[in-house]
Amino acid sequence: MKKSTILVVEDESIVAHDIQNMLLSLNYDVVGVTTRAKEAVNIAKKKNPSLVLMDIMLQGTSGGVKAADVIYKKHNIPVVYLTSYTDETTLQLAKETAPFGYLLKPFEERELQTTIEIALYKFKMEQELKKREQWLFTMLESIADGVIATDDKGNTTFMNPKAESLTGWKQMDALNSPLEKIFLVRDEKSGKRFNRLLQPVLEAKETDVFSEAILISKNGNKTPIEFRIAPIKQEENRISGTILAFSNISRRKIAEEKLIESWEKQKRTMQGTMDAMAFTIEKRDPYTAGHQHRVTKLAVAIAERFGFTKDRIEGLKMAGELHDIGKIYIPAEILSKPGNITDVEFNIIKTHPKVGYDILKSIEFPWPIQEFVLQHHERMDGSGYPDGLKGNDIHLEARILAVADVIEAMVSHRPYRPALPIQQAIDEIKHNQGILYDKKVVDACLDILMNGNFTFD
Ligand SMILES: [Fe+2]
Repeated sequence: MKKSTILVVEDESIVAHDIQNMLLSLNYDVVGVTTRAKEAVNIAKKKNPSLVLMDIMLQGTSGGVKAADVIYKKHNIPVVYLTSYTDETTLQLAKETAPFGYLLKPFEERELQTTIEIALYKFKMEQELKKREQWLFTMLESIADGVIATDDKGNTTFMNPKAESLTGWKQMDALNSPLEKIFLVRDEKSGKRFNRLLQPVLEAKETDVFSEAILISKNGNKTPIEFRIAPIKQEENRISGTILAFSNISRRKIAEEKLIESWEKQKRTMQGTMDAMAFTIEKRDPYTAGHQHRVTKLAVAIAERFGFTKDRIEGLKMAGELHDIGKIYIPAEILSKPGNITDVEFNIIKTHPKVGYDILKSIEFPWPIQEFVLQHHERMDGSGYPDGLKGNDIHLEARILAVADVIEAMVSHRPYRPALPIQQAIDEIKHNQGILYDKKVVDACLDILMNGNFTFD
């Protein structure tokens, strides 16, 4: 281990000589011995010892205290005082320079060693603490987030520069003021002020508060922010204060708004295209005019009973409005043919879900619309078309569309038959509940048709 180096400042040469001998026998390195304060500062500066043993009174003056002050403050070297004086004034003077220890002359070798080692240890700890403080300070000064600390009463004890610029308060003016005065936030949507921000943190002692809000600065500037308050926990879960960290989210908000705007625009474009497609098919096939729209209305009512989200309902709506788009490929003569159709004609009609799928497959919908369209003639027992899918292999949306489609088709006028009474349609789905049609979808549909005031128009 490297030897600790010591500078001895002592104006009584015999004492100085004794101390030097003791230090050498204790295995310290003595870098200098001097009787003068000024010279002590110079040697300390030049040799940078681990510690200075300093006589408080040099040549009858308190020069030792002044020199010690310079050595510690300017050159960052710890000082231990040597004194044979115990008068209050000198001690008071010495205390003010915060020495790392005192030795009352005369002292034993063992006493000298203990005092030096304690002083060196204290100094080392102090240096580490200073380093950590500096590190923390630099970090708080440089981070992009605002940081405000409070005591356990919620009064401000610290603000970093970012917190100063966002709140418009200077730390020196904010110190000891209640946090609510410095950090004024309102709810983004309701505009209501957040009150008693710290209460939940100080009372719960466990949790922290996290929220988005609008920060109102001292001069009235409004900034959207995201903030978090955490408790500073001491031993035995005691809360000694809180730390509030907040960041400006203006840019993120603008980006989010733009994204929503662009999504809305894209949705409008998509909706326009879908409307045009629906219009085209309905123009070509007047008998099913409005069919897709009415099927959609009933399908949405069923989906609402199922508790579909708004977004999922939008997907179902779009699929409903387009479910027969594939009929565009079926000759108009077949679609509008009065009377019975032949097997060949029926086989042609049966291609429409697959054709619809092919028309839509290249469009990137946020929902699998193509599959809903493809499956709207599938049946629970596998007897449907085009793929003979069974049960849960069929999307719930397609199972809903299937029931709505059958009901609407039966109660509407067709080229080959007049409209059938609603009771007949109800009997059909009841009769085939759980066989052709999803049991729960039928239940929801029956509830709508029999207990609600649903109309197709
Ligand atoms: Fe269809």
